[in-house]
Amino acid sequence: MSQPNAAKSGTFKIAGETEVNRLGFGAMRLTGPGIWGEPQDRPEAIRTLKRLPELGINFIDTADSYGPDVSEQLICEALHPYPSGMLIATKGGFTRIGPDKWVALGRPEYLVQQAHKSLRNLGVEQLGLWQLHRIDPKVPRDEQFATIKSLLDTKLIRYAGLSEVSVEDIEAASKVFKVATVQNRYNLVDRKSEDVLIHCEHHGIGFIPWFPLAAGNLTKPGSILDAIAKRHGAAPSQVALAWVLKRSPVMLPIPGTSKVSHLEENVAAVDIALTDEEFSILDHEGMAAAQA
Ligand SMILES: NC(=O)c1ccc[n+]([C@@H]2O[C@H](COP(=O)([O-])OP(=O)(O)OC[C@H]3O[C@@H](n4cnc5c(N)ncnc54)[C@H](OP(=O)(O)O)[C@@H]3O)[C@@H](O)[C@H]2O)c1
Repeated sequence: MSQPNAAKSGTFKIAGETEVNRLGFGAMRLTGPGIWGEPQDRPEAIRTLKRLPELGINFIDTADSYGPDVSEQLICEALHPYPSGMLIATKGGFTRIGPDKWVALGRPEYLVQQAHKSLRNLGVEQLGLWQLHRIDPKVPRDEQFATIKSLLDTKLIRYAGLSEVSVEDIEAASKVFKVATVQNRYNLVDRKSEDVLIHCEHHGIGFIPWFPLAAGNLTKPGSILDAIAKRHGAAPSQVALAWVLKRSPVMLPIPGTSKVSHLEENVAAVDIALTDEEFSILDHEGMAAAQA
């Protein structure tokens, strides 16, 4: 049997310019417990990263705060010099004070420092896509947006994005710099960001759903998701991912794992062709579960 290839998920042009395959990879899970320190199985984490180009994945999401630094450094160790066409998206704006502890820090000098650190960690002269991990409520939003503009103007970063934002945040940011991507939590049963997704569709902004594999109670044996998964000879998480991919052409899911076998299973979701009817049933069930 031929191996799955992320190219089958279709492509999207970041900022209308730089093409990536829509199914990407999230590198948060490559660190230790609590997204802190080195991974428990470092050789497997490196093997997982090295497998990405073979499976057609050319869009990786990471952040300075994953580890911190560990995820970016592993990506560099496994993949540098990067294959042509690979886009590594990183983020800044969270500081870490321990395992599972995240504190937003959006002071301009910190954001600039962290972008410089990400350049060093990833071994590049320019960050392909840099995203503000969170808007820090303690710092005026416009100061953070102006800092992002300065990162673009000084060419430290090529494209810029936001994470966990509202439509109103995106509109305010768009007055200061071109918002290339938005990264919000979104999956079959978490639909709080439908309005943000629709805004992204209208403006050609890439929408990066994090936690894309989740399907909550819909994965229970005997559920509709379970039945559709069985029909396709697939796991429920694969069908949940296939649904996310079919939801919108601007959708760029980044399922994350530290294991080669899970990575291969996730990429194989591109071969699941949901019918329009299956898509609608899942859409309806997922929305009902989200509102329950
Ligand atoms: N912007 C933000 O605020 C934000 C927040 C969180 C995450 N993210 C980004 O989004 C990416 C994805 O988010 P996520 O990691 O929360 O969610 P996810 O990718 O939906 O789920 C990851 C979890 O599922 C497991 N998993 C993955 N593939 C599997 C498979 N085939 N079978 C069984 N288990 C599997 C992983 O464990 P194993 O390692 O054991 O496979 C891990 O525990 C992250 O890597 C990160 O880049 C962004």
